[in-house]
Amino acid sequence: MITLSSEVGHLKRSVMRDLLALATDPGIVSLAGGLPATEYLPVAEYTQCLNTVLQRDGGRLLQYNPQHPGLRSWIAEYMRGRGVDCEPDHVFITNGAQQGLTILSRLLLDPGAPAVIEEATFTGIQQVTAGRGAQVITIPTSLTDGADTDALEAAFREHHPRFAIIIPDFHNPLGVSLSLQKRRRIASLAAKYEIPIIEDDPYSALRFEGKPHPPIKAFDHDGFVFYIGSFSKMLAPSVRLGWIVASPALIPKITVIRESIDLESSILTQTAVYEFLSQGMLKPHLEQLNRVNRERRDVLLEALRANFGESAQWTHPEGGLFVWLTMPDCIDTWGAFQRALDEHVIYIPGAAFAHDGSCCNAMRLNFSSAPPDKIRLAVERLAAVFAPLMPVAAL
Ligand SMILES: Cc1ncc(COP(=O)(O)O)c(C=O)c1O
Repeated sequence: MITLSSEVGHLKRSVMRDLLALATDPGIVSLAGGLPATEYLPVAEYTQCLNTVLQRDGGRLLQYNPQHPGLRSWIAEYMRGRGVDCEPDHVFITNGAQQGLTILSRLLLDPGAPAVIEEATFTGIQQVTAGRGAQVITIPTSLTDGADTDALEAAFREHHPRFAIIIPDFHNPLGVSLSLQKRRRIASLAAKYEIPIIEDDPYSALRFEGKPHPPIKAFDHDGFVFYIGSFSKMLAPSVRLGWIVASPALIPKITVIRESIDLESSILTQTAVYEFLSQGMLKPHLEQLNRVNRERRDVLLEALRANFGESAQWTHPEGGLFVWLTMPDCIDTWGAFQRALDEHVIYIPGAAFAHDGSCCNAMRLNFSSAPPDKIRLAVERLAAVFAPLMPVAAL
């Protein structure tokens, strides 16, 4: 018999993958995914960039290569524009934010050591903590202004965790963003307790409303905040490119860990993405994407008002991809999933995002990937599923 590693034992199957695999009927309307709208991905622009750089640089782009210096400089400038004191030597290019999480968890965490995550959080964050055998401590997240900083301080004081992972903007799955005051406090708690924060931020460029706040990293003067960015949502998931911003002194350690995983990111992709950025294609792409996302968010919120009225609550994201819908306590969104499939609509049950399986009466709804008529239809179907389950007082 083959003996598998303890890490394999800790990793949970992706529930989302299982649920999505059930949804094979083409008549099913899905608000379950976490994707930008395929029809608005910049196919023509990216094709042009790939052709340009391959014709210009030839075989060099099909070789092994060090990180693209122009892309590191672009990212450093982008981060400075967001208030972060960042030079190219603070930037490490990864294959997406998930790889950033993997690398930093390997840098900072030993099996059995404590780590703080938010009570409801992206499943990939659960994988790099619980999945790596960490002792997971959760903190609640307010649906109006983000992670609970009093709970974070209490967790720092009582457990001395190796790090806390926090999603600052348009939280996955909650849709909420951290207030400015909380960003400052989180950075100062990190410095006071000398405990790193991993700021996982794939969504901040997807703002379509309200005032942007600087990342937590902007308030970090002592190098205790590690920032993770990603091109997945701002450009395209399949470019598989993201970045870590960290103290230059740690970049060699990060490099060694990354080399042990997959050596490096494709120089062809880095060069094509750099071409896309330096030709000024990002701004119009984001303007279009965010306009569409805003329209679709409005359609979703209006449909929720029309179909659920006072019987449920939901978040009002100013960007990103997700709304978090909370129903009365007696509702079990997991238990109702088969009924939803029968009604040809799917969502992600809240419990999939909770380390302890809580959030049973909630669900994550995506507004970016379905067109408006499908979003309306999906919410009508959801109402048909849940109306018979609602307590009389909620109707
Ligand atoms: C909060 C969060 N972090 C990280 C990721 C992984 O992103 P990437 O595609 O950049 O690896 C996601 C993807 O949905 C996410 O929602």
